[in-house]
Amino acid sequence: MDVQEQKRQAAERAVEYIESGMVVGLGHGSTAIFAVQRLATLIKDGILRDIVAIPCSKAVEQEARHLEIPLTTFATHPHIDITIDGADEVDSNLNLIKGGGGALLREKIVAQASQREIIVVDEGKLSSALGTRFDVPVEVVSFGWQSQTRFLEDLGAVWRLRLDNTEQPLVTDQGNFILDCQFGPIDDPIQLGQALDSRAVIVEHGLFLGLATEVIVGAADGLRYMRR
Ligand code: A5P
Repeated sequence: MDVQEQKRQAAERAVEYIESGMVVGLGHGSTAIFAVQRLATLIKDGILRDIVAIPCSKAVEQEARHLEIPLTTFATHPHIDITIDGADEVDSNLNLIKGGGGALLREKIVAQASQREIIVVDEGKLSSALGTRFDVPVEVVSFGWQSQTRFLEDLGAVWRLRLDNTEQPLVTDQGNFILDCQFGPIDDPIQLGQALDSRAVIVEHGLFLGLATEVIVGAADGLRYMRR
């Protein structure tokens, strides 16, 4: 099974947990999109009814509208039953690095509002220590972020400002910038997360700790399940 197929199978398996009447969080990224597409098909075919969804990004919102998935907001539905989202790195404790697609802030808001946060990945995302394979995205407000680069360096980060395809700073859906921080293998993700949480300029970071309730991994030899 190639990587695309691993992603698709993991995402489509996760959709099997959705029941009619649920509020569903729609994740962002090349894996989660398979779940969005499958959900749209099941709604269209009348297999799932009375579904409403909250997208994790403007891009997913656009795709969901295109696929005619009924959308809602936190104002009417403050609690989400199931969210299906991807991840950039997953450790054996179901802790994650997310934000490669730049949607980490909304993704974390949605994850924290979800009863079940099902993460769908290909096996290349599995890691013995977060930070080994992927940088930690750190979302910062545009005002004053330069004042905290020394702070990040003192934490051990080699950082770079994420740019868009015109070589300008990438602006997130919430109007912020992202610093991709290379830490290498992180000994204590909780401590690092708390340190990052302590600075006003840092709006959010891509360490998703204790949020995933389960992970479905697409592997060459089939699907694997990780549960809390
Ligand atoms: C989006 O901001 C991310 O958190 C994605 O969920 C993550 O980058 C995984 O994306 P892929 O499924 O495209 O690898």
